[in-house]
Amino acid sequence: MAVELKDNELTAKAFLALRESAGWGGASEEQIEKGLKNSILTVAAKDGENVVGMGRLIGDRYSIWYVQDVIVLPEYQGKGIGKAIMKRLLSYVDENRLPGTVVTIGLMAARGKEAFYEGLGFRVRPNENEGAGMVMILRG
Ligand SMILES: CC(C)(COP(=O)(O)OP(=O)(O)OC[C@H]1O[C@@H](n2cnc3c(N)ncnc32)[C@H](O)[C@@H]1OP(=O)(O)O)[C@@H](O)C(=O)NCCC(=O)NCCS
Repeated sequence: MAVELKDNELTAKAFLALRESAGWGGASEEQIEKGLKNSILTVAAKDGENVVGMGRLIGDRYSIWYVQDVIVLPEYQGKGIGKAIMKRLLSYVDENRLPGTVVTIGLMAARGKEAFYEGLGFRVRPNENEGAGMVMILRG
């Protein structure tokens, strides 16, 4: 199986299918399409024409970057694809940040996925020095 990573080729349809595979509902195609346009980088993992994984970067491009929506189809998990997507996102930040500056890369791990991100250099919050990440969700 030759899975290739492609920058900025992710469609809203493929994104929605991947979200569904992860059991995440609640997003419309319009919302996804507009949100994708505002992403800094999307990465699609493709097996031929099939999109089998994704990840994207959002943020202000200079001080703060967030990793969002890292998803690999269940039948493709455990083969290093998620890690390859993350490495591409992280290398993009490193290559595109202002030299000499301090930048923060954040993300919110799904329950049970913390160790996947820890393996890539992220630390879990809260910890001795930092408070918890927090979230608010608006509906309707
Ligand atoms: C989380 C996810 C993206 C990982 O992708 P993957 O392709 O299966 O992961 P990889 O095969 O690249 O694994 C990379 C490393 O992380 C480890 N890892 C993967 N999932 C893990 C988990 N849940 N807990 C601990 N370690 C994990 C692997 O063992 C591997 O370790 P190694 O580098 O020492 O061999 C995938 O499980 C997924 O899409 N899950 C559903 C959606 C989801 O929850 N996404 C996270 C949103 S925050």
